[in-house]
Amino acid sequence: MQQIRFDDSLRTGFAPIDEQHELFLGMLSELGAQIAAGEHRQGVLDAFQGMRLYADGHFTDEEALMAEAGYPELLPHCQLHETFRQMVGELEGRAGEGPGLLSLETLEFLGAWFIGHIQNEDQRFAAFARAGRPA
Ligand SMILES: [Fe+2]
Ligand SMILES: [Fe+2]
Repeated sequence: MQQIRFDDSLRTGFAPIDEQHELFLGMLSELGAQIAAGEHRQGVLDAFQGMRLYADGHFTDEEALMAEAGYPELLPHCQLHETFRQMVGELEGRAGEGPGLLSLETLEFLGAWFIGHIQNEDQRFAAFARAGRPA
């Protein structure tokens, strides 16, 4: 599986956000390892649900931070979070219906989406928030 990994280039400078990003990417790669190892279905589904709930909580925290900072791009950012929530919700629903629907490719796709989102949208917010911080 392609590496899904947090590295320093993803740091926003906001420690709680960075910790959540790191933990979430860790959960995704752990889930990939479980699938690759042929872990039984319920274990994978439980881990997938845990990952979905964690992403949910992260998005809520991040949106609150943006609202507090008066971020003008809050709404489009929330829409991107919603896209991810929906993708993951649909995958979880489908995975609950039949075996073999959660593949490594799916996780790679989610990981690439999430990393791209950090690099672009989350970093854009971080730059905005840093600029507004008192020196
Ligand atoms: Fe984020
Ligand atoms: Fe975000």
